[in-house]
Amino acid sequence: MSRRPVNPSRRIGDGGSIPFVGAVQSKARSSPLLSIGLVLVGAVLLVFYAFSGSGGQSTKEAVIKLEGGFSCTFEVQRVIPILKKAYGDSMRKVLHVGPETCSVVSKLLKEEDTEAWGVEPYDLEDADASCKSLVSKGIVRAADIKFPLPYRAKSFSLVIASDALDYLSPKYLNRTLPELARVSADGVVIFTGYPGQHRANVAELSKFGRPAKLRSSSWWIRYFVQTRLEENEVASKKFEQAALKKSYTPTCQVFHLKSYH
Ligand SMILES: *[C@@H]1O[C@H](CO)[C@@H](O)[C@H](O)[C@H]1NC(C)=O
Repeated sequence: MSRRPVNPSRRIGDGGSIPFVGAVQSKARSSPLLSIGLVLVGAVLLVFYAFSGSGGQSTKEAVIKLEGGFSCTFEVQRVIPILKKAYGDSMRKVLHVGPETCSVVSKLLKEEDTEAWGVEPYDLEDADASCKSLVSKGIVRAADIKFPLPYRAKSFSLVIASDALDYLSPKYLNRTLPELARVSADGVVIFTGYPGQHRANVAELSKFGRPAKLRSSSWWIRYFVQTRLEENEVASKKFEQAALKKSYTPTCQVFHLKSYH
């Protein structure tokens, strides 16, 4: 009953009224209508291919910019000069943790005297060629940040996390944040969205499994105190001064924490 075609009269016998579907159903492979249909499909595919081929990376970046409200990963890229002012020598060996880590790592690698690595918490399936090359060199790896990070203590001078922590519940934060403090020697910088700044987006939900939970700065500070993570006051102050000098207003919350010693 429920599977009855909506308009049975159009399906029976004549491929004429719905050319493409009709031709396929009657297996009339030589039908001129089918050929025309295939040519049209081919043309559409070519147009799609041309667009995605020419605009790949820049389109992606444009999307991030448009939704800039929630992409703190994009913010990290903007803020590298200020981080360098605040952290100086501690920008020698940087680990970035967060979605789109390839974009941050590539940018960091362009800096003089900076080595960079990345942990992508989600999948790297749609990675572009330059990202795949970073993965094959072992510079970027995919790892579930709910589990211990595959690095020794103090492997990096600085660890920068963006967006990633917004998707973790306190239970997992309790495991992941100490990990960031463990693998760093001189500090951890956390970029996280402001509450209310987020626009839910279906693609993102399917990628991260749960919506971001954007917490207030008082929530984070209480959380850091509770888990005995200390603010890196020197770096905070230097970061603020450098930001002021460059008239930079963060669109994300930025926290500077000390590493474990
Ligand atoms: C996280 O760790 C803190 C401090 O050790 C503890 O008070 C809190 O109950 C933990 N939260 C969860 C959800 O496990």
